[in-house]
Amino acid sequence: MVSDKIAVVDFGGQYAHLLARRVRELGVFSEILQPNASKKDYSDFKGVILSGSPYSICDLHVLKWKNDLFKMNIPVLGICYGHQLIMRENGGEIRRAPSTEFGSAKMHVLNKKGVFKGLKGKSVVWMSHNDEVSSLAPGFEVIGKTADCKYAAIANFEKKWFGFQFHPEVTHSEEGQKMLKNFVFNVCQCKKEWSLKDFKKQKIREIRKKVGKKNVFLLASGGIDSTVCLALLLKSLPKKQIHAFFIDTGLMRQNEPKLIQKSFEKMGFKLKIVKAGEEFLSKLRNVSDPEQKRKIIGKIFLEVKDKELEKLKVNTKNWILAQGTIYPDTIESAGTKHADKIKTHHNRIEEILKELKKGKIIEPIEELYKDEVRFLGKELGLPKKFIERHPFPGPGLGVRILCSNGKQIQGKKLEQKINNFLKKTGYKAKILPVKSVGVQGDLRTYKKAVALEGKIDFQKIEKLSTQITNRFREINRVVLLLSPQKIKKLKMLKAFLTDDRIKMAREADAVSMNVVKKNSLLKKTWQFPTVLIPVQVNGFGESIVLRPIESLEAMTAKFYKMPKKALKENVKGILKIPRIGTVFMDVTHKPPATIEWE
Ligand code: XMP
Repeated sequence: MVSDKIAVVDFGGQYAHLLARRVRELGVFSEILQPNASKKDYSDFKGVILSGSPYSICDLHVLKWKNDLFKMNIPVLGICYGHQLIMRENGGEIRRAPSTEFGSAKMHVLNKKGVFKGLKGKSVVWMSHNDEVSSLAPGFEVIGKTADCKYAAIANFEKKWFGFQFHPEVTHSEEGQKMLKNFVFNVCQCKKEWSLKDFKKQKIREIRKKVGKKNVFLLASGGIDSTVCLALLLKSLPKKQIHAFFIDTGLMRQNEPKLIQKSFEKMGFKLKIVKAGEEFLSKLRNVSDPEQKRKIIGKIFLEVKDKELEKLKVNTKNWILAQGTIYPDTIESAGTKHADKIKTHHNRIEEILKELKKGKIIEPIEELYKDEVRFLGKELGLPKKFIERHPFPGPGLGVRILCSNGKQIQGKKLEQKINNFLKKTGYKAKILPVKSVGVQGDLRTYKKAVALEGKIDFQKIEKLSTQITNRFREINRVVLLLSPQKIKKLKMLKAFLTDDRIKMAREADAVSMNVVKKNSLLKKTWQFPTVLIPVQVNGFGESIVLRPIESLEAMTAKFYKMPKKALKENVKGILKIPRIGTVFMDVTHKPPATIEWE
């Protein structure tokens, strides 16, 4: 048993579990507590971290916050909403921020004690918030500020209470982990007593206990998550108890089904391929709403699985379904108590949640993030080549082909305002007639995208992209026009998931993946979606958006500043595909946009 533990109070923020995980990465065990925790609950911990939240601080009643924590003698670190909570509960004031901040900001470090020990004078931090502190509570001092945020970091050194408006837990806060390390070891005085190797052993024990003699069915996508899940099952149970299917949705990448089957054969396991493209396509034919598409895809997965189960001659009553769900799937599907739903992941539809409640599903890696899954994969002896592949979402091209009933989205006035803002920058804006999903201040957004015309100067564009999404609340995504050079006419086409569009998207994806391989960008990019949008520019065809990103765990991401030679090659290759007339590149970080468009 470990004795030194840190509690993370989960107010529903997208990064609450990431905080817990960052602490565990430091070798200290951490647990999640709910906002109504009492003195008794806190008494086991050497320190408490208060997470962010999709709620405004003014909605405290919604979360049933019990104010016991500040009556105790425990170090506290509040993040975003947690930071505002510390202020509000101790006599400070909060307001709606006059200009919201999403993305990176430079913080001036004003005091290098406690949590800021050993930091540089200026530190890049990651912001995502709508509210802010407007006056400091008595006993506190400012220890960090940014151009847009006067109270970016605050401290009461006597009580050992600290608050950050930014997110130290995301990797894009460059010294974030150092700050958490300072809090855990310097301030809370914890000892290092926990490791991921222990996690593997503990999971094997748990799987054996939960599965017993039951048959396990696994839906494998060929991605890293379900493969690691299978490898873990194979380490825990006799092979004959495990039945794995690969459902070919018809929405896969070029040659993917064969490649997956071969990879599993190499692992000494025969994977059954089920061809179900027709079933998926027939039910998605006239659907354009992104959430509806996701739910339908999740449901067909289950229907196909049920049909296959019937065909097997094993005792299907005595079964359990295994899924390679990882933590971001759960949190982004509002799987924790207070989180907002960003998107329904295919393994988090209602039918699955019901089975989960009945104890019919086992998800051995549900607490992990992608980089931890990769680490575990290595521990389990999976081939390096497999582990390093880019992640591919379960619903596949289904969420990378945007559909529309042809309704035009207007935005002339907004376009004018953005162009006024862009005066003298050398860039011009055009509102695209398309919406996409984003995440801002822990909330789901479904907003307009804006295209910039101008030079490929990524430094300049990065700054403008952040300014535009911070300043214009109607926009959550910015793209750069790569070809043609100017937009004269824009039209939203009526378009659904059809064979010819899937072919276009698949070919475009193959072009991008070849460019990635040829230019050795596999490790430099974390993922590289190629998205087909039904937007017609200057009267011809449809558009492709390139979405290369850098990330570590997909909870936050930066658009990748692709080398110009590779970018040119990519555009050239894509324009050879029939009926594609336009290529954009997505130049938005996450937040405010998500990695995928829907
Ligand atoms: P977003 O678009 O939310 O994506 O920034 C975060 C990561 O999750 C992947 N993703 C999915 N993976 N089933 C999956 O297995 C899904 O339904 C799903 N939706 C998004 C996405 O590709 C990215 O890596």
